[in-house]
Amino acid sequence: MSTPTTDPGTTTTPWGDTVLVDFDDGIAWVTLNRPEKRNAMNPAMNDEMVRTLDALEADPRCRVMVLTGAGESFSAGMDLKEYFREVDQTADPSVQIRVRRASAEWQWKRLAHWSKPTIAMVNGWCFGGAFTPLVACDLAISDEEARYGLSEINWGIPPGGVVSRALAAAVSQRDALYFIMTGETFDGRRAEGMRLVNEAVPAERLRERTRELALKLASTNPVVLRAAKVGYKIAREMPWEQAEDYLYAKLEQSQFLDAERGREKGMAQFLDDKSYRPGLSAYSTD
Ligand code: COA
Repeated sequence: MSTPTTDPGTTTTPWGDTVLVDFDDGIAWVTLNRPEKRNAMNPAMNDEMVRTLDALEADPRCRVMVLTGAGESFSAGMDLKEYFREVDQTADPSVQIRVRRASAEWQWKRLAHWSKPTIAMVNGWCFGGAFTPLVACDLAISDEEARYGLSEINWGIPPGGVVSRALAAAVSQRDALYFIMTGETFDGRRAEGMRLVNEAVPAERLRERTRELALKLASTNPVVLRAAKVGYKIAREMPWEQAEDYLYAKLEQSQFLDAERGREKGMAQFLDDKSYRPGLSAYSTD
């Protein structure tokens, strides 16, 4: 990964220029960077995102990852020319397999269970395939005026990849089917109302609010945070009995791995020192 700067959105990765990464106080701002194509996700960007996520997972400068888009768009979805038409035109079926694999690999396989907290910061257009990384991120903050759409029906296909599956994990069936079947767009406020995003804020507050949330996560015990988020995401697909056993194992795993000894500190500060209320704030790491 190249040298960090404090100027967001200016540092290319070693693998290309379709993704920018900047570090700022434990936050890695990852920017999809094809603004002239509204950040449509082409095979080059998908490859670069796989490598970027792998590098950031091992990079101590990243405690939290924010995913956003350059210019006026989060992402206009899959690139209709480079991901669909040009791949359809190749005679070699292995090309399609390879580009689909790279796309899935970062948009949900790596992202959904990534070891560090992730926030999608939706700054503009968000269409089709872009719903997959949006939902795969742990949290999402949107510009109130961002515009979302399941536009696939408008250009002659049902949503592909895991877009429909991601929607089913995030919003109600009524909302999902309405927008899948009509192809109508909706704004950030509506996205907040249907809980596709956590919050929608005015454009001028988007980065500040996202940074505030990211800094809160960056200051939280990373081992416990990882166990908590991965535990939730895996357990929600499990029968209750298995979930109970798995979540106790996760709890014990986090105690075993936690060099900070958070549980002991938290208990001692509440029960012995009476120095804080865990219901109201985090224990002190001092
Ligand atoms: N795939 C490929 N290229 C795309 C793209 C996509 N998904 N979305 C935008 N682009 C390209 C346009 O072809 C155009 O390229 P050009 O300058 O070489 O002609 C450029 O990005 C700008 O797009 P334009 O339509 O002029 O921008 P806009 O600001 O007026 O409109 C959108 C923005 C997002 C509303 C519009 O581009 C759009 O509808 N895109 C398709 C969205 C979609 O259906 N995505 C689902 C894919 S799964």
